[in-house]
Amino acid sequence: MNEIKIFCPATVSNVSCGFDVLGFCLEAIGDEMIIRKTTKKGIKITKIEGYDLSFEVNKNVAGVSALALYENANPDFGFEIEIYKKIKPGSGIGSSSASAAGSVYGMNVLLGSPYTPLELTTFAIKGEALASQSEHADNIAPALFGGFTLVKSLYPLEIIQIPTPDDLFAVVLHPQIEIKTANARKILPKEIPLKNAIKQWSNVGSLIHGLHTNDYGLISRSLIDVVAEPVRSQLIPGFESIKEAASKNNALGTGISGSGPSVFSLCKSQQTAINVKKAIKQAYAKHDVPFQIYASKINMDGVKELNKK
Ligand code: HSE
Repeated sequence: MNEIKIFCPATVSNVSCGFDVLGFCLEAIGDEMIIRKTTKKGIKITKIEGYDLSFEVNKNVAGVSALALYENANPDFGFEIEIYKKIKPGSGIGSSSASAAGSVYGMNVLLGSPYTPLELTTFAIKGEALASQSEHADNIAPALFGGFTLVKSLYPLEIIQIPTPDDLFAVVLHPQIEIKTANARKILPKEIPLKNAIKQWSNVGSLIHGLHTNDYGLISRSLIDVVAEPVRSQLIPGFESIKEAASKNNALGTGISGSGPSVFSLCKSQQTAINVKKAIKQAYAKHDVPFQIYASKINMDGVKELNKK
């Protein structure tokens, strides 16, 4: 096998209460990549479509993660990478993670799958760090494992896969403005009051329990963020109107996707997700910000192969 075409999914990280640790994988939006073996050693990015990104391997998220794996594997051939970018950088739905996860996933398959998803995550984190100037895996993990994931620890890396209730659907609104993760991290409080820390870790615990037990009511009561949302929501025009429209239409909860500007809602049933999508679309049309909106199943596979040659 010399070439692989893959789907690299968008992801929602934080999931309200789980800042830097929780994430889930989306089905409805993602990039595509083609990775090919070459006789010449090294990594080369040969094509980028969709967005203006660097062809320099060291300055490209997919390139940096590819290099991390390549240096570890040290094969006697090389790889070239084509990137068909559909997730806008700075969207809050894991654009950089999709690229970082995609390149290492594809190379691993072409090498005969010597690495586990956990090992692939360690390589992909290097690429993600280039974009956000900090190492975190809450988008990479769901992109590589699928479903819901919890980053139990970064050093040493430990990822826990959390069950996904069958009837859970997501709606994601992406206002077409860019928020750089590095900037959205700078405005976060350096310290939080103990009473907020208590609320936050109680919500993380109960969200995980709700996902394990299909308790949609508990999931709904747990989708609360008292740490990042109060400051970051100010960067998102119309954030409260999205929350209100989703809540009035029975969304389980609504929060900032990653570092924003995208906003996600979780819903019980596809029909509720369709209703929530329609209501948010109507509410957001009143703001003068172009946007895209998706209703999506939770992607249980993560990065996947589209065809083989
Ligand atoms: N957990 C990260 C953050 C996700 O919220 O800053 C963005 O990459």
